Amino acid sequence: MAAVPGVEVGVRAQRAVLGRVVRYLVGEAGVRQLLDVGSGLPTADNVHEIARRADPGARVVYVDNDPVVLAHATALLAGDTSTLAVSGDLFDPASITGNPEVRARLDWGQPIGLLMCGIIHYVLDSDGPMEIIGALVDALPSGSYVFIHHLLDSGDPASADLQASMARGLGRVKFRTMAQVEALFRGLELVPPGLVPVPAWRPDPGAPPPGEHGPVLALACAGLARKP
Ligand SMILES: C[S@@+](CC[C@H](N)C(=O)[O-])C[C@H]1O[C@@H](n2cnc3c(N)ncnc32)[C@H](O)[C@@H]1O
Repeated sequence: MAAVPGVEVGVRAQRAVLGRVVRYLVGEAGVRQLLDVGSGLPTADNVHEIARRADPGARVVYVDNDPVVLAHATALLAGDTSTLAVSGDLFDPASITGNPEVRARLDWGQPIGLLMCGIIHYVLDSDGPMEIIGALVDALPSGSYVFIHHLLDSGDPASADLQASMARGLGRVKFRTMAQVEALFRGLELVPPGLVPVPAWRPDPGAPPPGEHGPVLALACAGLARKP
């Protein structure tokens, strides 16, 4: 927060759009199973809690490569039979789609919502983001959905500053332009409103109009697409 004033506004917006996507998928699109890759530490209003409110039968699999995340998620989910947290590495998609526990927990004949919220900007071009996402999408049945939240190279100094400060703190990060993020949805059909700045993705009624959110919220985009 000291290095990037206002970052908490962006992080809250990230969690909020994830919630709106989950409510859309489970409540409107009828998707009853979610695969959340790079799920992060459990927090208030987790994906499985939001999904269950929309459909008590919804199933959620959380995947992360951080053992601390897994320890907390496993503790939180003790005794929960419809939600699973497993270790998996985005850089090895088969470690996710071929994991026997993941295969058993989800019905791979029914649509799955693949959530990649705040993770793809840690995949450098040299890591092959198209190939990684393509391998995950190939494993999903037709009618599945893919959500990406991604930090933006907007060409503006605030975006360059945030990227530089994250690169210093985290070692790796790749902000992309809207066009570069849109290209990651190759072969998929973007759901309206398409790929947009985070606050503009199906805002809740009463939310401030896009443009009134302050500069931090112009630094990330969100899009949801359907696999034909
Ligand atoms: C910024 S957090 C996002 C958390 C959550 N999705 C959200 O939007 O609030 C990114 C998460 O991705 C995980 N992650 C980073 N690289 C990963 C990889 N290669 N495979 C799986 N998870 C990874 C990190 O451990 C972290 O929990």
